[in-house]
Amino acid sequence: MYDRGRSLVVAYNQESFWFSSDEVAFPSQIHEVHHLKASRVYCGRLGHLSKFENGKQVTIDQSLGDRRSHFSKTSNREDTDDTSATMKEILEQETVLSKAADAVLLHEKDLKNLFDSKKRIYIIGCGSAFYASEIGAQFLQKYTSIPSQAVIASEFVSQRPPLGGDALVIALSQSGETADTLVALEYAKLQGSPIVSICNRAGSALTRVSDVSLVLNVGPEIGVASTKAFTGMLVQLVFLSLIVGQANDQATVQEMDLYRNELLELPTKIRAMLQRRGEITRLARRLRQKRNFLFIGRQCSLFLSEEGALKLRELSYRHASGFGGGELKHGTLALIEQQYPVFAIAPNDHSIGKMRQSIQEVKARGGKVFGILSEGDEVTQNLCDTYFWVPRTLEMFVPILMVIPLQLFAHDVAKSLGRNIDRPRNLAKSVTVE
Ligand code: AGP
Repeated sequence: MYDRGRSLVVAYNQESFWFSSDEVAFPSQIHEVHHLKASRVYCGRLGHLSKFENGKQVTIDQSLGDRRSHFSKTSNREDTDDTSATMKEILEQETVLSKAADAVLLHEKDLKNLFDSKKRIYIIGCGSAFYASEIGAQFLQKYTSIPSQAVIASEFVSQRPPLGGDALVIALSQSGETADTLVALEYAKLQGSPIVSICNRAGSALTRVSDVSLVLNVGPEIGVASTKAFTGMLVQLVFLSLIVGQANDQATVQEMDLYRNELLELPTKIRAMLQRRGEITRLARRLRQKRNFLFIGRQCSLFLSEEGALKLRELSYRHASGFGGGELKHGTLALIEQQYPVFAIAPNDHSIGKMRQSIQEVKARGGKVFGILSEGDEVTQNLCDTYFWVPRTLEMFVPILMVIPLQLFAHDVAKSLGRNIDRPRNLAKSVTVE
């Protein structure tokens, strides 16, 4: 009997049964998969599964998830060929991101109703989803007058944030099965706060507890490292902020139109970057023996620096940390010595003056600076040892473009070190334990 309320999936064929928290784990010869429901009794005989409710046998719903989905059919590919699933997913960002906005625009009315008269917004997630939450909190803060705060999902309950009916919780999760996030949401629900979720898996535990569920629509993400789901989350957060901003008279119809039009331009801009991906590969080969890396940024790019560092740790097993450029002088400068590699994520916006200052602080101590810069920013280019330029775009889309070279770098370092890119050691795609 399964009654924990967490995800448990059973797969079976004529010879065996397999249990897992996620379809991803099942071997490829499986064709029957069933998501077990809480407080039911299941009985398995080879090739057959029965379900009992209140002592009576009931039919297993064949319409929902009983057949192995496309997601899991493709999920057991071994990482033996040259192009990993992770690289495929990085490249797919060129085409899939324009679809991510659809779910938000479709739920415009529900979202406006849900945000109405809210006094606080919490955005929660873990790992990359948390960094997307941080960026989303900045977007919401810009376009609504509602205080918005990102909280690491695993810290949410212990922080005891003021919840209740006038607080809204937005939960971000690629898998929709992350235990830390689900526990936080159980708590928020008990306190009476409504939930909006941004998730890549329709029908996941996260979508089931949400009042409004926005599905990313970027296609299955197989690699353990989150890439297209991360940028998909950012696309949805942009449009969510604009929709709520319009309802609060803080975003205009013209702004919404600008973003909708620019969304259609993103594929061309992403392609322009991907065509120059050899520059990143060469840099990764040059730096692959380095054991420590720093990433710095300001405002939204601060969270990109954390995301870039996480991606590098996760894929290459090298140490990397990301933080605000302004923090260098408060301790971390002590690390900088000759040739120390520092990535500066420095879009040409109102933070650029201070980022140039941070770059100079690193250079003055002999560090090597690799800039992720806006196209045409010659002043910053001249300060960096190497740079990769990113096409110009609207302000809230900048993190979406700037994270792509960071994903490529992490991938290429890992590849040149012979790491298992799709399945890094010690990690799982869905983290279903607290
Ligand atoms: C990202 O590259 C990581 N694999 C990890 O940080 C991930 O984002 C985190 O575990 C949250 O997963 P979720 O989006 O499925 O909730």
